[in-house]
Amino acid sequence: MSVPTHSLPLRCWAEIDLAALERNLRLIRASLPAHMRYVAVVKADAYGHGLHHVAARLMHGGADLFAVANVGEAAALRELGPGWPILLLSPLLPEEDRFLADYDLSATVSSADEVQRLDAAGRAAGRKISVHLKIDTGMGRLGVWHEEAPQLHASIAAAPYLQLAGVFTHFASPDEDAAFTAQQRQRFLAALDRCPGLRPAELFVHADNSAGIETMPGASPFNAVRVGLLQFGILPHQHSLLAQVQTEPVFSFRTRVGLVKRLPAGSTVSYGRTRTLTRPTTIAVLCGGYADGIPRAASNRAQVLIHGRRCPVLGRVTMDQTIVDVTDVPAVACGDEVVLVGRQDGAEITITEFSRNADTIPWETLCSVTKRVPRIYRTSLGV
Ligand SMILES: Cc1ncc(COP(=O)(O)O)c(C=O)c1O
Repeated sequence: MSVPTHSLPLRCWAEIDLAALERNLRLIRASLPAHMRYVAVVKADAYGHGLHHVAARLMHGGADLFAVANVGEAAALRELGPGWPILLLSPLLPEEDRFLADYDLSATVSSADEVQRLDAAGRAAGRKISVHLKIDTGMGRLGVWHEEAPQLHASIAAAPYLQLAGVFTHFASPDEDAAFTAQQRQRFLAALDRCPGLRPAELFVHADNSAGIETMPGASPFNAVRVGLLQFGILPHQHSLLAQVQTEPVFSFRTRVGLVKRLPAGSTVSYGRTRTLTRPTTIAVLCGGYADGIPRAASNRAQVLIHGRRCPVLGRVTMDQTIVDVTDVPAVACGDEVVLVGRQDGAEITITEFSRNADTIPWETLCSVTKRVPRIYRTSLGV
């Protein structure tokens, strides 16, 4: 007999607060100049939060453009309806070019080869393909090198089946290197000045991601921001000025206690015997491991919340279980809820702390929560 999965209790799950997401979007918008358009970065399944739920809520909140990584993500987003502008941030493979017209997408263009290919795709489809010209001002990844941008802009302008909809760049270190970010901005603006006929007011002109926003100058031709992390209520770095915006966390990560038991002093815990107990210890074995997205690097380092108290991880995180010390927490029992990231009884473990304890960053933590973990959506009605 198979058990219907909807009737099974949750063992390890993520809670996504969609009402907080929408409040965040509105707060971010309100903190920006009124003309600034909002590009919602929802690649990688909306940073692991779930593309459909997140994008639908951001559409409702008034996002102007959605940015995804690839055609597969764009096709999934297009299922929500026609008309929403979608920008592909990654380069296309030649076999993917035809989907731009099929799904009504904008492509990122970095090279003369792409101009030629996408113009041909537009001709084959009998319609213009929308493109954003990307300028490499020092990221060293996508984009035409800023000194060569005028030539590429001219070839886009001359391509009968391309329609320039935007122009953008991407910062390499907006959270760490203000001087280099300012240099990237100058290179970008200088490149735009050298493109004859380019009319910024008619295009999406964007550079800033979450961390970039706080380095944004007053008057400038920038008229859009690309927001990923911040809309999920996570600051791009610890001392971010964006803390004033007071966004709320959207994501929390929870599991439950599967077993509680006592071990004597001197015994060791988990694979590789990396932890020797120095006192008689009550351990709780949690119903989540690295197959759920609790990084192995968190072994012997992370903490979790049980009954609102911090409990340290003991020994190595394993595929399906993680072991924590609950000696100092009274009455822990099988089935109790455990917070890996989030709040419980007035205590909190932020995703930034959780990520630091696993030598990683919040972006990677969110993308590492696996398919086995159900996403439970909360709305303002608590449903
Ligand atoms: C090109 C581009 N723009 C914007 C973003 C959003 O960045 P953040 O999540 O820091 O806001 C990303 C994220 O990786 C990106 O690759």
